[in-house]
Amino acid sequence: MRVLGINAIFHDPSAALIVDGRVLAAAEEERFSRRKHGKRPVPFSAWELPELSAAWCLQEAGLRPGDLDAVAYSFDPALCRDQADLNLGDPWDHLRADYARRAPQFLATALPGLDPDQVRFVPHHVAHAASAGLSVPEDSAVLVLDGRGESASHLAGAYRGGKLETFRCQELPHSLGLLYEDLTRHLGFLHSSDEYKVMALASYGQPRFLGLLRELVRADGAGGFTIDRIDWDALAKTRAADGEMTEAHADLASSVQARLEEVLLDLARWTYDASGGLSTLTMAGGTALNCVANARIAAEGPFDRVWVQPAAGDAGTALGAALALGSEHVPFTTAALGRGWSDDELEAELRRAAVPYTRPASIAAEAAAVLARNGIVAWYQGRSEYGPRALGHRSLLAHPGDRDTQTRMNDVKGREQFRPIAPMVRAERFHDIFDGVFPSPYMLFVHRVKPEWRDRIPAVTHVDGTARVQTVHTDTEPLVAAMLTEFEQLTGLPVVVNTSLNTAGRPMVDTPREALELFGSAPVDLLAIGPFAVHRSRVFGGGSEPR
Ligand SMILES: [Fe+2]
Repeated sequence: MRVLGINAIFHDPSAALIVDGRVLAAAEEERFSRRKHGKRPVPFSAWELPELSAAWCLQEAGLRPGDLDAVAYSFDPALCRDQADLNLGDPWDHLRADYARRAPQFLATALPGLDPDQVRFVPHHVAHAASAGLSVPEDSAVLVLDGRGESASHLAGAYRGGKLETFRCQELPHSLGLLYEDLTRHLGFLHSSDEYKVMALASYGQPRFLGLLRELVRADGAGGFTIDRIDWDALAKTRAADGEMTEAHADLASSVQARLEEVLLDLARWTYDASGGLSTLTMAGGTALNCVANARIAAEGPFDRVWVQPAAGDAGTALGAALALGSEHVPFTTAALGRGWSDDELEAELRRAAVPYTRPASIAAEAAAVLARNGIVAWYQGRSEYGPRALGHRSLLAHPGDRDTQTRMNDVKGREQFRPIAPMVRAERFHDIFDGVFPSPYMLFVHRVKPEWRDRIPAVTHVDGTARVQTVHTDTEPLVAAMLTEFEQLTGLPVVVNTSLNTAGRPMVDTPREALELFGSAPVDLLAIGPFAVHRSRVFGGGSEPR
């Protein structure tokens, strides 16, 4: 069975290809089009398709569009309701259903040879649910929370034997995801994009509006929730994108974050009971990228195990829609499902760019040596990641022991200074340094940094004593593990700063040429690209000296 999954309707367009129970390829359109999030999250853009990523998925598998058994589209226009009924105040919302109905013909235009009759509509939240529940080997309770699907914002259910049982959906306009998006917009950030900045900001504030929010945002005791209108301006004034960030803004972020966590815990407990006590919870939907809330559900909720789909946002519904059609478990073992290049291809790119490069005996050791001298390393290895996190394939690495690293990294990337940077740690050393969810290979939970380590790794310890950890396991990420081992031998620290390989406002680097472009424009000391090393000092002079 050859199924191409497509996410196109809201934002983060993407494609994924499953052939005979194996995920062969999955990628977001932004990595190809170089437009962050692929498109604007408005009804007018609903017709835009992930043409480049879909074509690449097929090419990667050596398939033509006519070879597909089905195309799974992660939105079902039959489930749409009239916009007056939805009560979201968007007179153009009907465009989504209109364009979705025509998507089979649009897809046949984008992928010549495709039979439009092969296109199946998969309900948006079923696609999210499948991306989580069918990605683990065992039966699980499943919780989906996002801004919105066709006419709901949530699904609680369970996967048993590859079949989804739905317990409850929360209809719009009530939406925890849209609540968070509204707050994001109110605080001067870009909604459907910058929600993680609000989460970071929350830890700087006090939840002094929590009492009021408990009245306005309530779990209904039956697996759903209600949200009354919130007068944001009465709590903290609207902030312009370049406006001053005040204590009231941080307090508001803190309050909404705290209330979100409380309601999610309620929903998780209800879903556990409804599932008859399944021990695993799987989660997806953009709200499941809230790693602070995820950590609380794991710590305080009733489940033994919480697994979150790494591409929890809408990009993941391409994979989920394809999984939903197959109705079989396809355990998720790596997020490295995007494009990759052979060593020969990488070397050809370096020659074309006419930069001096070497092929050291160990690129892991070469990178570790630069990091140990407090250099910054652009780490470009293997296939690119599916989902929003850099996980050691398209990463920017630095020393965690220097307090100034956070400032330097945020400067390199042109980001706000309150943004925390995250650590990767050798799995074997995790428990010495951190408390919390283990394993954590996809950076979807926050962890507590043990007090005795906070001064040793200040760059990755957030203001509240936490860190969003990626655990690195030798069996799945041998090269990254080798780099961490080398770094520990040089410094005594089994931790390296890991942030995404991009500059502000741009998608993550995907191709070797983009890696070289970033290297040329940002003060990076070493580009470790496949087995090859490009040292800044040899290209431009200055910077970190090669060994
Ligand atoms: Fe969604």
